[in-house]
Amino acid sequence: MVPVLQDLGMRLLGLLLLLSVGPWAEAGKVLVVPMDGSHWLSMREAVRELHARGHQAVVLTPEVNMHIKGEDFFTLKTYTVPHTQEEFDQNFANYIQIVFERQHFLKIFFKSMAVMKDSAVILYRGCRELMYNKTLIGHLNATSFDVVLTDPVYPCGAVLAKYLSIPTVFFLRYIPCDLDFEGTQCPNPSSYIPRLLTRHSDHMTFLQRVRNMLYPLALKYICHVTLSPYASLASEFFQRQVSLVDILSHGSVWLFRVDFVMDYPRPIMPNMVFIGGINCASRKLL
Ligand SMILES: *[C@@H]1O[C@H](CO)[C@@H](O)[C@H](O)[C@H]1NC(C)=O
Ligand SMILES: *[C@@H]1O[C@H](CO)[C@@H](O)[C@H](O)[C@H]1NC(C)=O
Repeated sequence: MVPVLQDLGMRLLGLLLLLSVGPWAEAGKVLVVPMDGSHWLSMREAVRELHARGHQAVVLTPEVNMHIKGEDFFTLKTYTVPHTQEEFDQNFANYIQIVFERQHFLKIFFKSMAVMKDSAVILYRGCRELMYNKTLIGHLNATSFDVVLTDPVYPCGAVLAKYLSIPTVFFLRYIPCDLDFEGTQCPNPSSYIPRLLTRHSDHMTFLQRVRNMLYPLALKYICHVTLSPYASLASEFFQRQVSLVDILSHGSVWLFRVDFVMDYPRPIMPNMVFIGGINCASRKLL
């Protein structure tokens, strides 16, 4: 009797073990293309959790960067870029300097635009280098990733994912020029969605609504400088005219690092998920 029970016990244990390793058998391969700086600090927490759940993550980044360093919960893959760490650091130092300058608003505006343009060029040159590296692209293609996790503010990941035909999950706080709305065909009424940088609430007076409609025109310039080069790059690779909206509409899921506790309500689409709490993942005690 007892050996029979023991045998049954062993079988049950075996079954239990089999069930518990089940999810591991389905472990996915995730290609992570982060945006450097504070953006990466939140995404790193998501990658840590993916690893904890048995998935493999490869983080792809320019060899010259600020915060994206190797960790034990992902594989770091770097690509060469046509600038040095000194040039990169100098650009960042210029940016910090402007933040502390006390000058006329317009002077600061034009200076920020110049620095923003420099940073955009640095990021974009890195992306070109990556996309035109046949060896690296071939290697990434051969790895057969299940999904790309990327911040669309650095659209290189989105272009790469579309080029390799890998489903994409976007992980972002904001993207200017309402590209998230356009890329998902989400309703976007100017009458009650306060535009980026306006400081309006969702209850606006008539004049505020007018301003709310005009603000995006100024932002268009920023998008033209920082994001539109990626549309040209994608057009080179797909050998047809491709817009940023085309690239972003490839996204399967949009994870927004915002929360309606702090942000005004807005229409959302079924593939949008709000995960604002992740910003507090590495909080310090008060
Ligand atoms: C392509 O990428 C690989 C791996 O990052 C690197 O070793 C190689 O030098 C790159 N090739 C070119 C032409 O940049
Ligand atoms: C990726 O690999 C597949 C299968 O070998 C091939 O058909 C496809 O053209 C490759 N894509 C790129 C972008 O190299």
